[in-house]
Amino acid sequence: MESLTDLLSELGLTRQSPVTVLTGAGVSAESGVPTFRGEEGLWKNFRAEELATPEAFERDPATVWEWYDYRRQMMASKEPNPAHHAITRLDEAFPNFLLITQNIDGLHARAGTRRITELHGNIFRVRCTRDGEVSENLDVPLTEIPPGCECGSLLRPDVVWFGEGLPREEFERAFNAAEACKLMLVVGTSAVVHPAASIPVVAKQAGALVVEVNPDPTPLTDLVDLHLRGKAGEILPRVVDILLDFTDM
Ligand code: OAD
Repeated sequence: MESLTDLLSELGLTRQSPVTVLTGAGVSAESGVPTFRGEEGLWKNFRAEELATPEAFERDPATVWEWYDYRRQMMASKEPNPAHHAITRLDEAFPNFLLITQNIDGLHARAGTRRITELHGNIFRVRCTRDGEVSENLDVPLTEIPPGCECGSLLRPDVVWFGEGLPREEFERAFNAAEACKLMLVVGTSAVVHPAASIPVVAKQAGALVVEVNPDPTPLTDLVDLHLRGKAGEILPRVVDILLDFTDM
């Protein structure tokens, strides 16, 4: 991590500097939530790309909801890991902080991180297919599949599916933060799903120091200033120690 300290010195990072973190499924891997592109990312022989679409929901809402019900139960049974907790320490220490996550599992909030932009929604919220009204739903398992709204229409998960745009407010918040930040940590994302994968590119082009934490190389690896190879739960607590020590000086 010696090079991280050198890079921070060159950057002149302080507690007032804008800091962002972008996370993907890999940050929850050590909690036991399977990643999308790993080998465990299958359910009853369906790939995520076959179920997480508006077309799949239109064709067969019950099967899509069964899959979400299964994932809600799985996610609700998991706990935040040291990587989630390390990010919470950054949220507490840097006044100008934003966590941008592609994850829908809610583990960051359960770890106590407050300033979060959920780019792909949250699996514990539902949305009315008629008027778009969103509400929290923590029933695990669901009491009916597919669940219905009081108005008689179907409810859908309040998540972003393939082929859909990102929620506007979250999108703008994320890209504005990327343009403004001085440091961005990119943790546990394969960086192949856009527009989320463009966020670190925007940060880099705007002059930020971009540090990637991932056991494997990704399309971002050649672009970032530093690739820290390894598991988020092991590397991130050390990175945060360094950031806090450095900005304490
Ligand atoms: P992926 O499953 O594509 O990638 C997970 C990444 O985490 C990979 O690069 C792994 O190498 C890395 N990884 C695995 N274990 C790790 C660990 N312990 N610590 C750190 N990294 C680890 O997940 P995402 O990049 O999040 O979108 O996928 C992006 C989007 O595609 C998802 O939000 C979802 C998906 O389909 C939608 O559903 C719209």
